[in-house]
Formats: sequence, structure tokens, C-alpha cells
Amino acid sequence: MFTIQTNLKPLKEAYKDCFLIGTAVSPLSLKDSRWEFVKHHFNAITAENDMKPALVHVEPDKFVFDMADTMIQMVRDNGMTMIGHTLVWHQQSPKWLSDPSLTRSQAIANMQNHITKVMTHFKGKIKAWDVVNEVFESHIDNPSDWRSGLRNSPWLEVIGPDFVEIAFRAAALADPEPLLYYNDFNMDFPDKREAAYHMAKEFRERGIKIDGIGMQGHYNMATKPQNVEDSIKRFGSLGVEVSLTELDVTVNHAQGQEDLTERQAIEQALMYAKLFKIFREQKDIIARVTLWGLDDATSWRGDRFPLPFDKNLQAKLSYSAIIDPEKFIEENQLEDVTTEIRMGHAMYGTPAINADEIDKVWERAEVLNVSQFVGAWEGASARLKTMWNEEYLFTLFEVKDPLLNASSELAHEQDSVEIFISETDNKTSNNYKEGDAQYRVNYENVASFGTGAINDGKFVTATKVVPNGYVVVAKIPFRMDQAKEGLIIGFDAQINDANDSGNRISIAKWNDTFDMAFQDTSGWGRLKLVKQV
Ligand code: XIL
Repeated sequence: MFTIQTNLKPLKEAYKDCFLIGTAVSPLSLKDSRWEFVKHHFNAITAENDMKPALVHVEPDKFVFDMADTMIQMVRDNGMTMIGHTLVWHQQSPKWLSDPSLTRSQAIANMQNHITKVMTHFKGKIKAWDVVNEVFESHIDNPSDWRSGLRNSPWLEVIGPDFVEIAFRAAALADPEPLLYYNDFNMDFPDKREAAYHMAKEFRERGIKIDGIGMQGHYNMATKPQNVEDSIKRFGSLGVEVSLTELDVTVNHAQGQEDLTERQAIEQALMYAKLFKIFREQKDIIARVTLWGLDDATSWRGDRFPLPFDKNLQAKLSYSAIIDPEKFIEENQLEDVTTEIRMGHAMYGTPAINADEIDKVWERAEVLNVSQFVGAWEGASARLKTMWNEEYLFTLFEVKDPLLNASSELAHEQDSVEIFISETDNKTSNNYKEGDAQYRVNYENVASFGTGAINDGKFVTATKVVPNGYVVVAKIPFRMDQAKEGLIIGFDAQINDANDSGNRISIAKWNDTFDMAFQDTSGWGRLKLVKQV
């Protein structure tokens, strides 16, 4: 048991003239000192899981609302605001609800029935509903044509692009009171911002009720606050309200550590400070800022210390940064903070390209973890080793992924690994140069060639399916004839994870979590070619 710091200024107090301050709760947080803590700091509550389709709609004719009802009662008894999360989503949803074998009209009926029953049950108790969650890709060629940016999902497949408006119409009909939100992650990415903007704009012009945009706000140390601000203003220009619905800031490089280092703690706090400074400035647009969880012990991404309270619910530096962002920025010399770039070592040697029998020379190689997730969903990850000789870089991926699928027509949606190599360690934005290339191979050993990659038979790969995943061995040719001991090259690796319908649901990276690696080398990590460490 831990003691609550009741002398701390409540977060909600610090922002009482600006917006609501929320948190996501699980049943664990409804008890004892955790609940005291919730009441101390927050005035808005989202159920972290307990109102999602899979948890309430357990069988076609069976709804289970007990946990959500308990939560809502406690929230109401204490004068707090309850948020509804979420109605239409491709995750945590029962398969039969949107099964691709349904006809379009059956699927529409399912969706309407789900929305109507759930919203009717909670009528009068929910301030705002996340009606539709996470339907856009993060990178979209022509985001003003927002339909072209919809991610592959069972709802899209079985209904078509109008599933989004069907959901909003059903929600408005089920209960005219609550505010209706579109909610997504990476809304600070320009493509996704524009797609969501154009969708909401069109809906409002056509009289389809949409009142708010939820920027989930699963940020990390590579997040660009300017992009966050641009998105808030862009959405605000539509006349909708904006909320940060699931805010956390992961320190991805701290994964595996006992705690944050002092420097990491300051960097994280500065990120929170920059964000809250923007939120305060945009208080006329922002209705609510909700943190995704209470503390680093119970956060869904607790291994990367994402919240302003530590494992014992004690305030971190990030708490102080949120309480007074301007002061924190002033006192902590914001400008010089740079995001750390990972440096790995590739060991000299020439392993065989054989996935059935892993060459013994790999034993000398350093292990890199490809386990920083780009989106909100955390699927397959990998242990990676690299080696080099004068002609090739070698990679050995051991991918953890129990469910394998390569049915998508899009190579990057299949269960696959990607290798990014920059022989000059070129780190310019939006520009591949000579020696920069992106290669991909799926678990069935089908290679595909991304930006800058030449298909001339020199990219050689072998794969093998093993219990709970697959192994990939590959060699990537050096094209610039300069590989020698001590050379530092730009490098990154990516794991694409498909679900059982073949849609990509998660992306893991070694270094570059901004996920523009296919066109931008600036966020990649580095590999030093060595003969020994
Ligand atoms: C997460 C919860 O925090 C986890 O406990 C659960 O296992 C998976 O879902 N986007 C959303 C949230 O909209 O519902 C997700 O919450 C995080 C990403």
C-alpha cells in the first residue's frame, strides 16, 4: 500500500479555468487509495476498457454492463464527468459484430443495434462518446480524399467507407444529448490530421452530427509539439471541440530500465510542459485533457514510464511540468534538448543466409530490440542481430508473432520485417539519397523493395516459421563500397504485424517512432561497424 500525496496541488485545480482533466480507470482504480487519488486530481473519467464492444457486447443478444455501471455510479456520486469509450473500433470488438462473411445490410444492422443498445443503456450519464475510433492510416497520399485514407478493417470491408457516417447517424439517433467524437492516435501527423479534418468538415456540411475530435495523444520523445498545436487549431477551425483523450508520453529508450535516468525525467517533463503550454493557450478549443491511466505501474505502456506519477503514485518531475509549464520550461533550458538516437554495433563476420540452421557466427552479435511501437496497438516485436563484411550488412530477426498472415495485397500490411539502411548516415528530412534504401521481406520469404532499394538479386533472404513467430535472415548489399571498421551508418528496422483478416494492426521499430522512415531518413538509428566491442 502506498500513501497518497494529498498535499499536492490537484491537476484539475491547475486547469480549472481551462478544461476538464481526466484519467482512464480500470476496476483496480475504483478502490482504496487509488480511488482517493483519482478524486484528488481528476474530474473526468474514461473507462480504460470496460465500455468497449468486446467487454459489453459479449454475445449477439447479451450485454454485460455491470462494471461500467459501477464505475459510472461512482463517477456521478462524486460529481465527475463520464466519457463513453468506444462504439465502433477494429480492436476489442467481437468478431461476429463485423464479420466479413456478413452482408452489408446485416453488418449495418449489427452496428446500429450495438450503438443504440449501448447508448440507450447509458442515456443521461455520458458527456461525450468516442463514436468511431482509429479508422485512418497515418500516412495518406491524398488526405483531402479522406475515404482513400481509411485503414483496412472489417467494418470497411463489409460495409464500405460510409460505415463512419452510418455510425455517427446511429449515435445521434440513439441519444441526441451527448457530444459525438471521432477519436484517433497520431492526429499530430499531417496526413491523418487532414483526413480527419476533411471528414469532419464534410459531415458537418452534410448535417451529420459530429461535435468533437479526440486526439488520443499517445506521444513520445520524438513528438513534435508544433504538429500537435497545428492539429488542435486545424480541428478548432471547424467549430468542433477538441480533446486530448488518451494522453501519455513514453520514454521509449528507457524500456528495460528500473527507472528513468535524471536526464530522461527532465526530457519527459519538458515534453509534458511544452504540450500543456500549448493546451493552455488553446483552451478555447480544448474541452478536456485525459491522461491514459494513473501511474507508471498500471499504464498500458508502463515499461516506458509514460505518466506524471511513478509506480508508487508519487509525483514525477512531469507532474511539476504540467502544474506550471511556463515556469518549468524557463527553469530547464528547453532549447538544447535533443532526442537521443540509438547506436548499435554490427559485428564483423559472414553468416550463411539460412533460417533452418542459424549460423554459429551470430553468437558474437549484439542484440537490438525492435519493440518501440508507432501506433497505439502493440503487436509483434523482434530481437535483431546485425553483422557486416565489406560487401553486405547481415540481419537476423527473431520475430515474436503467434498469428501469421500475408493475405493483404499491400506488402507492408503483411507480417513482415523491414530494413532501412543509410550508408552515409544521411539524416535529411523527406529525402533519400545515394546509399539509402528500404527493404522488406514477409514471413513466407517474399521480398519487396521500398524507397531506394534495387531489385538486382543482391538482397538475399531466408525465413522460417517457428513456434510463436518466425525467423528472418537477410543480407543487404552495400552499394557505395566504403564499408570498413568504424564506419557509422544510418539504420532502422521495422516489424509489420497483420491480424487474422490480413490488416496491419501494429508497427514496431528499433529507433524511429515517427514512422516516416519510408520517405525520411532523419529519425533512423545508427549502427557502427566493428570488429569487436
Ligand atoms: C488500451 C488499454 O489501455 C489496454 O488496457 C487494453 O489492453 C488495450 O487498449 N487507443 C484506444 C484505447 O482508443 O482504448 C486503448 O486502450 C489504447 C489505444
